[in-house]
Amino acid sequence: TVPVVTLDGPAGVGKTTLAKRLADALGVAYLDTGAMFRTLAWKLGPGAHELPEGDLRARLEGFCFALSGAGGASVLSCNGVPVGEEIRTEEVAALASRIATLPVVRERLKAAQQALGASCALVVEGRDMGTVVFPTARHKFFLDATPEERARRRCQQLEAQGQPADLATIAAQIRERDDMDRNRAVAPLRAADDAVTVDTTSLDIDGVFAELTRHINA
Ligand code: C5P
Repeated sequence: TVPVVTLDGPAGVGKTTLAKRLADALGVAYLDTGAMFRTLAWKLGPGAHELPEGDLRARLEGFCFALSGAGGASVLSCNGVPVGEEIRTEEVAALASRIATLPVVRERLKAAQQALGASCALVVEGRDMGTVVFPTARHKFFLDATPEERARRRCQQLEAQGQPADLATIAAQIRERDDMDRNRAVAPLRAADDAVTVDTTSLDIDGVFAELTRHINA
């Protein structure tokens, strides 16, 4: 079995909102693979990328991911505990990007992601879903937007949550994470050859959603 839809793209492009909506519309589970990298980053802490590979491999054996629930409300758990808001900080995101350059981490999560995809139909979001993890997915999308627009969206999101947000700081964080994700040796962020790329810069969520469903129903 393969997931129904893969959604890849850079940070802050709107993947999560769209993936959840699509999962609801299609009646399948939703998997946020960024949350898996963030969870490992959070649990392993800042020194993870300096561990000898054997030690890191052994520690990675101790994490087991599961998916429950349905649609956009699907819940990702690690070792039986639902993944929570603690992973949603820029510090954890930066750490996640750093460990995401390590082949041993990517191997481990790729296996976990493929196992989840084999157990149920998915809308799955990430960076390498269409290129590496689910190359035979039925529908592949790559969402893009200018870094300025993505920073603006992230800022709005944070402000809506009552959190302080500085546009220049967020833009710098997004650029740094983009650089790391696009330039790493293993599974760099890029569109799969057979993905539909949607430039969302001048579209709102409804507009992007309409575009995605148009392709899916075509
Ligand atoms: O999507 P999110 O911003 O939560 O992902 C956090 C980080 O995890 C990304 O910046 C990226 O480095 C890494 N990631 C990845 N491959 C994925 C999903 C996330 O390398 N499939």
